[in-house]
Amino acid sequence: MVSGCSGPNRRQVLAGLAAVSFARPVQASPFTLTAAPATAQLAPPEYAPTPVWAFNDQTPGPLLRARQGERMQVQVTNALDEDTAVHWHGLRLENGMDGVPYLTQSPIPPGESFDYDFRLPDAGTYWYHSHSRSFEQVARGLLGPLIIDEAEPPEVDFDEVLILDDWLFGADATLFETFGDLRTSAHGGRIGNWITVNGQGDFAKPLPRGARVRLRLINTANARVFQLRLTGMRAAVVALDGMPVVLPQGAVFRGTDDLVIAPAQRVDLIADITAEEGGEALILSQERDGDFALASFPVETGQGPRPDPIPFLPPNAVQVPTAEQIAAAPLRELRMDGGAMRGIASATFEGEELDGRALAERGMVWALNGVAGMPDEPFFEVPRGEVVRLMLVNETRWPHGMHLHGHHFVERGRTTPMGSLPEALRDTTLLGPEDRREIAFIADNPGDWLLHCHMLEHAHSGMMTWFRVT
Ligand code: C2O
Ligand code: CU
Repeated sequence: MVSGCSGPNRRQVLAGLAAVSFARPVQASPFTLTAAPATAQLAPPEYAPTPVWAFNDQTPGPLLRARQGERMQVQVTNALDEDTAVHWHGLRLENGMDGVPYLTQSPIPPGESFDYDFRLPDAGTYWYHSHSRSFEQVARGLLGPLIIDEAEPPEVDFDEVLILDDWLFGADATLFETFGDLRTSAHGGRIGNWITVNGQGDFAKPLPRGARVRLRLINTANARVFQLRLTGMRAAVVALDGMPVVLPQGAVFRGTDDLVIAPAQRVDLIADITAEEGGEALILSQERDGDFALASFPVETGQGPRPDPIPFLPPNAVQVPTAEQIAAAPLRELRMDGGAMRGIASATFEGEELDGRALAERGMVWALNGVAGMPDEPFFEVPRGEVVRLMLVNETRWPHGMHLHGHHFVERGRTTPMGSLPEALRDTTLLGPEDRREIAFIADNPGDWLLHCHMLEHAHSGMMTWFRVT
């Protein structure tokens, strides 16, 4: 644990920091990303830079930004000593571009490149990350933001991408080399002891009073669920996981008091800065030992609050199943078992039925429908256009953020008392311990797609399956 890195001390180092705006594309499509070892000043300046793995020598990696309807081309070069591949999280893209080694492509070996090229049907806030041994490669820094602008973006004064991440540091601010360790995997996953926003422990950006700012929050942590609170601003949630919120006609959502963001999830807010000049607006993280500031927006001279209402986003053209279609669809159950305090009696691993001990010897501590790790056969196979209805049943004592590749889904019967978010199509849903959630979507994207827990240690130690759309 880095002393003075968390808790109230953090507020003291916030004073007098240069503002850095992250939302600047350094290049346009075609983009190039090179995954390689690098260093990053994640800890305060009295520590040496942390050795990381990064895209283009920076973590988070460069902002990839394009407009809805365009294509994006990214050449990824692997300068690591091990295989890699890049997943474009939340994009409804062609299966062969999804970046999942052994499922949608061969891994990119050291020294080689892969050209990704995909269409961008949806606007919104997305991200990219390694999908090869991601529990380690993402924890080491191989991730970055991917923003697709609306054809007609809502009018705001500032547009800020905020990458929320955590790092598990030893005393010298180097990463603990305990990636994928079984004990951590059987619990909540790798939770860091140092939190950064855009790679900085003390993120601050001055804003004029009354400014209207779009905040794009992306949780890129391996396992930490952020529970946030906002002060000094009046904010509305306008999108979740890239997709605009669904609002009853005329209603305006203001439930930003308790904002829960699971790993891989995104929340877009449009906020009017209401704090007085000389004060600050804050994004606070509610931690066990109290709230502390993740991001500070010191308030400068400005016009004062805007009179016009906060704008909302036009929907993306995702086909959404109707209530009737959902009711007519078969309900498939996905049972999640295992983990500390419950364990697995037995499960299938690589075709063999094994007891809990034998599974643990193979690094498996979780199972989905009685299978630990990637099954040979898909969880289900459906023809293109079919309505898929899944009941996710968490029989474990741990929270899980379940992520569906290639599609967005509707959530039905949300019961987790974890935040007060409005409804939107999502690509990742957070289930609390012993929670269950029904999700439904139209399987309109052909190919083989993953469905897994985005607590990356959980995925690595069993919580991973796939389905096929023909
Ligand atoms: Cu964000 Cu399967 O990944
Ligand atoms: Cu999990």
